[in-house]
Amino acid sequence: MFSELLYKMSDIKTAYNLLDKFIKNENLKKHCYSVESVMRFYAGQLGENSDKWASAGLLHDLDWEMFPDTHPNTAAPILLESGFDEELVEAVLGHAYPDRTDVPRISLLSKYLFACDEITGFVMAYSLMKSGGLNEVEPRSIKKKMKDKAFAKNVNREDIQKGADEIGMELEVHIQNVINAMKNDSRVNPPN
Ligand SMILES: [Fe+2]
Ligand SMILES: [Fe+2]
Repeated sequence: MFSELLYKMSDIKTAYNLLDKFIKNENLKKHCYSVESVMRFYAGQLGENSDKWASAGLLHDLDWEMFPDTHPNTAAPILLESGFDEELVEAVLGHAYPDRTDVPRISLLSKYLFACDEITGFVMAYSLMKSGGLNEVEPRSIKKKMKDKAFAKNVNREDIQKGADEIGMELEVHIQNVINAMKNDSRVNPPN
């Protein structure tokens, strides 16, 4: 029991250390924190291992800054060497399936990670236009803005819908969960 607790603690600590080592860009870090927080929320809701799900969120773009061409394949050996398990590594590879990897999303962890990726980016981009930031973002306005093709062009709308479909959740409910988790994270939503 005690050793399990220690393992879990070193797990999330290793995740933070890795993130600091590989990612310097503050916006990318914020994106990773966002996905981490939403994953932690869902792990709690589903009774899954919170630190593991949070680590997957935190580390899914670990190699994006240093190895953009081979992302996320370059992250896999780094994660395995750092002691993360196969399921977490498969989820990290799965978030870029099928465009960049040949690892389909089978586990719940993998499906939720994919579902939390693009939408956090879109919510963040949208919040930057609002004077109240994340505190002023509503699921309905997000859904409406998703139809504006000129806005946040690099965020794939189809993947946002596909993500919600894969976890079997109404998109609006998912977006509300994403907004709540991001809003409650002071690293993502610093107090004024
Ligand atoms: Fe990615
Ligand atoms: Fe990402």
